[in-house]
Amino acid sequence: MVMTAAPHAAQAAHWMKKDLLGLQELSAEEIQLVLQTADSFWEISLRSIKKVPALRGKTVVNLFFEPSTRTRTSFELAAKRLSADIVNIAAQSSSLSKGETVLDTVRNLEALKVDMLVIRHAAAGVPHLIAKRATSSVINAGDGAHEHPTQALLDLFTIQEKRGRIKGLTVAIIGDIAHSRVARSNIWGLTKLGARVIVCGPPTLLPPHIESLGVTATHDVNAAIRDADVLMLLRIQHERQEAMLIPSLREYRLRYGIDRERLTKAKPDVLIMHPGPVNRGVELDSAVADGPYSVILDQVTNGLAVRMAVLYLVSGAPKVDAEDG
Ligand code: CP
Repeated sequence: MVMTAAPHAAQAAHWMKKDLLGLQELSAEEIQLVLQTADSFWEISLRSIKKVPALRGKTVVNLFFEPSTRTRTSFELAAKRLSADIVNIAAQSSSLSKGETVLDTVRNLEALKVDMLVIRHAAAGVPHLIAKRATSSVINAGDGAHEHPTQALLDLFTIQEKRGRIKGLTVAIIGDIAHSRVARSNIWGLTKLGARVIVCGPPTLLPPHIESLGVTATHDVNAAIRDADVLMLLRIQHERQEAMLIPSLREYRLRYGIDRERLTKAKPDVLIMHPGPVNRGVELDSAVADGPYSVILDQVTNGLAVRMAVLYLVSGAPKVDAEDG
């Protein structure tokens, strides 16, 4: 990776969006700009003083209506490393639990002059609705089964970091495609950057007509593994399923889980990725999750730099003085 002190003003000048809602609406150039900006920020977390003043005076609110470990924490650390102020609001402990609407909550936060809202919600489209009404920037931290743009951006960053390119690679996304916002955002991002995408899962977990998004669909996990440079595993999203869509987790593991034996069918330098949380022993055995091909924790590390880049760009990319960087 190229490790520069701070993003170049020329790069930042191309970001024109108030919000980051999904990868569907980003161009390949905008995606590359986020990745380049993240590359510039990556080394800040290696410093003894892990802070630059890029967002000094800005206020970020993490507004999470669903549980999160990685996304919420890395947005908080990203804001702090850019010297922004950050407030965390969990829906269960806010006045939302007393009947206040989401839009009223946002109006009240905007009355406090916040600059950016990072929103996760179980319903698709909530960040988009808020973005239309809010003057602050809105960043989608996952909306239902729709999109999880910063997860896909950190996945793209990790593939680029490990393989030096994305164009021309084959990425197999295996698991509960139908209920996965990670799959959807990755499909948009990977295809825009020139990767071939295979989606694989049981018939009940592959949406009909998914090929219209420019991917190849298969139920044959061995075929997906054989052709892939990257295996991206997904957990079964029980919380988004209205009915049990697989006979049992045991059968799912037997037919689609990646263990050491199944991994022998993969390319010798395959990358194993997972957005987390991992359900060990279901989609991925521990020997593979913790094995030499796994980059799962690198994804988490890279997520911090990617979220710093996103906060920086949507805030209007304020100029960072060379001595500050
Ligand atoms: N990958 C991801 O979104 O993880 P969290 O749910 O822990 O944020």
